[in-house]
Amino acid sequence: SLIVPSVQELAKQPITKIPHRYVHHDDHHPAPDDDPLPSLPVIDLHSLLAQASDSCSELNKLHTASTHWGFFQVINHGISESLLEDFKREVLNMFKLPMEDKLKLWQEEDNHEGFGQLFVVSEEQKLDWSDMFYITTLPHNIRQSQLFQKLPLILREKLEAYSMEMKRVAMAILGQMGKALGMDIEEMSELFQDGFQSVRMNYYPPCPQPDMALGFSPHSDADALTILYQLNDTAGLQIRKDGKWVTVKPQPGALVVNVGDIMEIVTNGVYKSVEHRAIVNSNNERMSVATFYSSSMGTELGPARSLVAQHGATKFRRVPLETYLKEFFARKLDGKSYLDFMKL
Ligand code: SIN
Ligand code: FE2
Repeated sequence: SLIVPSVQELAKQPITKIPHRYVHHDDHHPAPDDDPLPSLPVIDLHSLLAQASDSCSELNKLHTASTHWGFFQVINHGISESLLEDFKREVLNMFKLPMEDKLKLWQEEDNHEGFGQLFVVSEEQKLDWSDMFYITTLPHNIRQSQLFQKLPLILREKLEAYSMEMKRVAMAILGQMGKALGMDIEEMSELFQDGFQSVRMNYYPPCPQPDMALGFSPHSDADALTILYQLNDTAGLQIRKDGKWVTVKPQPGALVVNVGDIMEIVTNGVYKSVEHRAIVNSNNERMSVATFYSSSMGTELGPARSLVAQHGATKFRRVPLETYLKEFFARKLDGKSYLDFMKL
């Protein structure tokens, strides 16, 4: 991908108009409060895991949310408040680093990890009103250790602990999804036990022309399951629901979870990977951390065999996970176009 300048630095200048490359021509740009959203389904992870039989309400809620919304919130996830607070503080500190320190952590031409923007593939492409820091966290052997070593030590420690908690929560939810779907337990754990995990920290500065910009272009996530931690109470995430963009209001203590393309593929289309985007506003900055969990390196991506046996025709092609991820990173974000490519 191409290297682009910092939007955080750009937004510090006294500008009243955004540069041309940030102007998105988009027909629908609703203000966040135009269209109050029926709030996202809320799943209590503790009661979900405590339930013994599979006829219970929390499991049904999870299944319905994953089928109809592709998005839900998770409460009682068991992550300590102090870890969430510490991690948040270190992420905020990282975006406050002076530019000369950030440049040491900036993306390089042939490497998409570090500070920057992902998915920029041409000089003409519209840019998003955000900076991000992207890093691969699991499995350990594919980490870029030179990037980890450059991180402030305390951030590294908190990121490590946060990453383990994210894996625990993702595995717990995936396991329950498998149960709700009637998927073979062995197949599920083989697919995900050594999953590929990456973390993307997002910073959206205030924007002088919020109606013309986008914080994050519309896309669906390529991974299996995304867990979003919204670091402040500024709203920005919108999901496409019944053809309309609806805003997800941050709920203190809750994590937003969504089904990604891999899970839509694995479930042979039963669970939906829903298009979403982030908008920006003129007054407040916004920060979030998205943790992506995908199947294990070396596995083949395709509809689960134990589900195809129940649901008939296979709807997606089978490719090695590595091929899938490589293709994904080489493209620009464009709605669900990549998932369409996987369709048979
Ligand atoms: C995204 O990761 O797709 C957007 C996350 C956000 O709401 O900031
Ligand atoms: Fe996303």
